[in-house]
Amino acid sequence: MNVQFQMQTKIVMEPGLRARTAEHLQPLGLKHVLLVTDAGVKNAGLLQDIYASLELGGIRFSEVSDVKPNPRSEDCNAAAERFRAKGIDGVLAVGGGSAMDTAKAISILLTHEGRIEDFEGSFTLKNAVLPIVAIPTTAGTGSEVTPFSVITDTHRHYKMSILDYRIGPVLALLDSNITATLPPAIAASTGMDALTHAIESYTGKPANPISDGLALHAIRLISRHLLAAVREPGNLNAREQVLIASLMAGMALSNADIGGVHCISEAIGGMYDTPHGVANAIFLPFVFDHNRDADLQRHADVAYALGIDPTLSPAQASERAVEHLFNLSVELGIPRFSEVAGVNETDFLILAEKSKCNISDASNAKPMTVDSYLQIIRDAFSYSV
Ligand SMILES: [Fe+2]
Repeated sequence: MNVQFQMQTKIVMEPGLRARTAEHLQPLGLKHVLLVTDAGVKNAGLLQDIYASLELGGIRFSEVSDVKPNPRSEDCNAAAERFRAKGIDGVLAVGGGSAMDTAKAISILLTHEGRIEDFEGSFTLKNAVLPIVAIPTTAGTGSEVTPFSVITDTHRHYKMSILDYRIGPVLALLDSNITATLPPAIAASTGMDALTHAIESYTGKPANPISDGLALHAIRLISRHLLAAVREPGNLNAREQVLIASLMAGMALSNADIGGVHCISEAIGGMYDTPHGVANAIFLPFVFDHNRDADLQRHADVAYALGIDPTLSPAQASERAVEHLFNLSVELGIPRFSEVAGVNETDFLILAEKSKCNISDASNAKPMTVDSYLQIIRDAFSYSV
């Protein structure tokens, strides 16, 4: 057995932890951090405790607070330009995947010449980057532990991936009190993103025994707690369980990759600006069904972790899981593909081609072609139950 598992992030989890941010930054020697966040987080008042902690701890901070969903290359380039040669020695991301991925992009640009588009692909960095600390405000992306940054190239309308272990945060501060403020629709879609990470990590070709353990437990936790976390924001236990599941799924995908669902959802997000978790939730049952016969046992393991009757055969259990995933999306209020803003059938071939070009295409459980992506996209569009 040949196994490699890499992890660069110290993890600390505690309700209310953000009020002690400086205490955790000081051992890293950080003196002037760039806080990267979005208007929603700022307007919700989530930064006040962080500002107070940084001021008390004597850590200077500058701020980028206009990160948008599906972050754009031109915004990353412009933000980095403002802070070159300003003495920034670390980047503090406070937000969901968009803020964290932007923080990673800015950290690259503050240590390299060029534009973020120049670093698309795997292991393209020449230098170490500024240390990144992440405080996730959603429970889903797992970006607080992953070595990926996904940025929309605004000229190509394409979500490009940058993979390098040096952009993995050195520290993740998980404050489950933050996720109590999540609107239910965002809690639902980001939770489905985490579930997709776990399922694609477990069923994908690069899976290994360590990522398997993380992924399967993440599936169990999400299956048991996501609905409660969405419906009962005051339920601290449910929020904590989904937050830790999201992180574990992020650890799994960092070492086992994602697959066909993300290939399609990133194409959709680049074209229509669809929320990432919504696009994943829509395509998860279709890709899972398409992939099942590539490894019935592994897809059945996912089914059992979802709580499906363990006495069913692998074929029956994995088939039941498809139905379960459809039902879960309905319960969470996820729209159908045909209801997504901007979707146009004339784009489907381009979407399939972009899916096939994704960095994670080869990791899918079953080899994919442009035609197989196209068929899945068409099936999702005509699905009406
Ligand atoms: Fe994702």
